[in-house]
Amino acid sequence: MKKANIIMLGAPGSGKGTRAVALCEVLNIVQVATGDLFRFNLKNKTELGLLAKTYMDKGELVPDGITADMVKQRLSEPDAKNGFVLDGFPRSIGQAEMLDKILEDIGESISAVFYLDVPDDEIIRRISGRMICKDCQTPYHKEFNPPKVDGVCDKCGGQLFIRDDDKPETVKKRLDVFKSSTKPLVDFYSKRGLIVKLPSELSASGAVADMRELSKKLGFI
Ligand code: AP5
Repeated sequence: MKKANIIMLGAPGSGKGTRAVALCEVLNIVQVATGDLFRFNLKNKTELGLLAKTYMDKGELVPDGITADMVKQRLSEPDAKNGFVLDGFPRSIGQAEMLDKILEDIGESISAVFYLDVPDDEIIRRISGRMICKDCQTPYHKEFNPPKVDGVCDKCGGQLFIRDDDKPETVKKRLDVFKSSTKPLVDFYSKRGLIVKLPSELSASGAVADMRELSKKLGFI
């Protein structure tokens, strides 16, 4: 079996987190979501969290060096040795080059880059109905993917909340930043033959079944 070190690439609200959570369940690997790591730090009022908030609230990127250090530390932990899904990193060519260096230092490489290409109007619909578990970060949608009990996470029973940066004006800025800084990564990783384009819609059987089928196809299980 091939080791799965995956990058999840796509605009805000394209479904990276939804696929990443499902992929981790299928392959028993870890999700490394930079947005979640910043929000975790903010919840714990660390210096990093408070600094990140000043950028996140405006829909801007947190500076590369700070983000890359945080990713390196997380990827160096023992549970990342079996494989990982990078969700939200890298987000610029600069960060992709930093990732190359991190992977070289820890003796790893990327197996595939899963790319979600979702139209802007669909992104807005998805983000405007999103709710997230405050404990395990699983995303839900009030219309497309509702929890079984209103306001409560199916997986861990945590309370669901709406993110501060999901306000319409911040979402527009995040989409602009995606187009200017992150989208060039599609070309960057295409040249390395790593891009696997995912359907923007989930199949009727859902994210876990979709990720299981894809993992079989790519030789991860
Ligand atoms: P981050 O937390 O990474 O947010 P994002 O990239 O903007 O992505 P989202 O989490 O909003 O969406 P997603 O693609 O995971 O979609 P989801 O699965 O939830 O980053 C937030 C901020 O942190 C950034 O703006 C930046 O400031 C900072 N940051 C993070 N990483 C950084 C980095 N590397 N460098 C610098 N700064 C960084 O799905 C969305 C909704 O749609 C959900 O409700 C879901 O249930 C629903 N859904 C999903 N798939 C489908 C489907 N197929 N059909 C219908 N509904 C669906």
